[in-house]
Amino acid sequence: MIDIEELRKEIEKDIVAAKTVEDINSLYKKYLDKDGKISLVFRSFSGLTSEEKIKIGGVVNVLKQLVIDHIEKVSREIKDVDRKEKEKKDWIDITLPGKKPTIGHLHPLTQSINKVREIFEGLGFSIVEGPELESEWYNFDALNFPDDHPAREMQDTLFIKQSDRDKLSSKEKFLMRTHTSPVQVRHMQKNKPPIRILVPGRVFRNEATDASHEVNFYQVEGLMIDKDISVANYKSIVYEFCKAFYGKNSKIRLRPSFFPFTEPSFEVDMACTTCDGKGCSVCSQTGWLEVMGAGMVHPNVLKNSGVDPDQWQGFAFGFGWDRLAMMKYKIDDVRLFYNGDLRFLNQF
Ligand code: PHE
Repeated sequence: MIDIEELRKEIEKDIVAAKTVEDINSLYKKYLDKDGKISLVFRSFSGLTSEEKIKIGGVVNVLKQLVIDHIEKVSREIKDVDRKEKEKKDWIDITLPGKKPTIGHLHPLTQSINKVREIFEGLGFSIVEGPELESEWYNFDALNFPDDHPAREMQDTLFIKQSDRDKLSSKEKFLMRTHTSPVQVRHMQKNKPPIRILVPGRVFRNEATDASHEVNFYQVEGLMIDKDISVANYKSIVYEFCKAFYGKNSKIRLRPSFFPFTEPSFEVDMACTTCDGKGCSVCSQTGWLEVMGAGMVHPNVLKNSGVDPDQWQGFAFGFGWDRLAMMKYKIDDVRLFYNGDLRFLNQF
């Protein structure tokens, strides 16, 4: 018969030492398995009286429970540690701000033209577009540029190579439009006055690139035709526009100028946005910046467009939309708009 007292001491010692999964597995094997020490004690009961069986059985059952309890306790602790470790690994701070997905934004030129459109739409103008590849007739002839007149050279034109060019009429000769003014004619040919349109678009000139010149840039053309439209109407519309775009304190002035397609013609200056008209390097110390060309539409242009100049009159204007944005955001190099440098673009 096994010594119960010895068994108790052995169990107590083993229990204190059992801490890991392996420990409790071998504890089970040693005492509770089919051939474990406790199972063997029960199997050796056959020779005992029932009183002895009850007495020893009671004691051994207590020992058995001790082993079971310890195994359960250790396995609970192990599970607890596992859970806590897992939680620590998976822990997220839900109060932290989320990661913003990076999305792009509109190009500064698009942002500024959208603003320009909004202002002119508010003044009753519709947005109209025309082709970038244009005929010489629309770009020059219809706009009252005389044949071989030096005015054609005012704009360094990119002509399209055509093998039999000499034999073609100006309606068949193509070029990249040098300004948005041909859209005046195109629109008047198809629409009867009164007319109030704004024409944003890309134009092309054969120029050496520098801080203020690009081979391709953008213009916005305006045209307003009705019975009694005058320079006064023009001035007030442009003034409204400048105030809305550049701010309430904007000042403008008109200077005489020349364009073949307007008469009288003038140049519009705006008080420099950088120095408020006091004079600085941006405005070459003059206090004024050139904003646009404009004038009353020449009767020949109206005739070429199928509009009777004895009944209708109006003004046209054109400005560089790159320049407009440069003045608004105080940008000193037009090339920044086109070279795709994110350090520049991300500032808008
Ligand atoms: N088309 C002219 C230019 O490119 C600008 C302009 C437009 C002038 C309309 C007068 C009227 O310089």
